[in-house]
Amino acid sequence: MLDEKAKKALLLKIPHPLNICGVSHDGVINGFTLSWMTQASFKPPLIVIGVRQDSRSHALLKASQQFAVSFLEKGQQDLAKTFFQPQEKVGDKLGTVDYTLGEATGCPILTDALGYVECQVQGSLEKGDHSVFLAEVIAAGVYREGEPLWLADTKWQYGG
Ligand SMILES: Cc1cc2nc3c(=O)[nH]c(=O)nc-3n(C[C@H](O)[C@H](O)[C@H](O)COP(=O)(O)O)c2cc1C
Repeated sequence: MLDEKAKKALLLKIPHPLNICGVSHDGVINGFTLSWMTQASFKPPLIVIGVRQDSRSHALLKASQQFAVSFLEKGQQDLAKTFFQPQEKVGDKLGTVDYTLGEATGCPILTDALGYVECQVQGSLEKGDHSVFLAEVIAAGVYREGEPLWLADTKWQYGG
């Protein structure tokens, strides 16, 4: 039988970055705070992200099969906070920040980020409360140097 306490304690020890994932479909754009992300292959360059099934972003990402990740810098917790809440509840999250639309995907990229990757989904698995998307990095850009923001740098938790 699964020891729930042990499972939670250990899964919370998995290190995560804290970034913003931008999505776009049919002229509708949105973004959400993304911590469940890791690299999965060098060649081709693949990453894996976990996306909440009941989110607006999930529907957009599933429809377009594309997304862009803006990499936050240490100290940019406020930007992460802006994208915590569902669009349904807080309205247009992108209305409060500067962004551009990625050339490869049309997905929103935060201007204040360290840089970005644009991704094309190659496969997905919808098994739990989050879906897993495996995606190829098809474009990338570095805006400036800086230390990445880690979930562990903040008081927030997402996992367990
Ligand atoms: C610290 C933190 C980390 C988060 N990480 C993720 C994540 O990795 N994947 C995800 O789908 N949602 C994550 N969320 C929740 C999303 O930000 C939230 O579901 C999203 O804002 C939904 O917005 P939408 O309905 O406008 O798409 C995280 C939330 C917090 C507070």
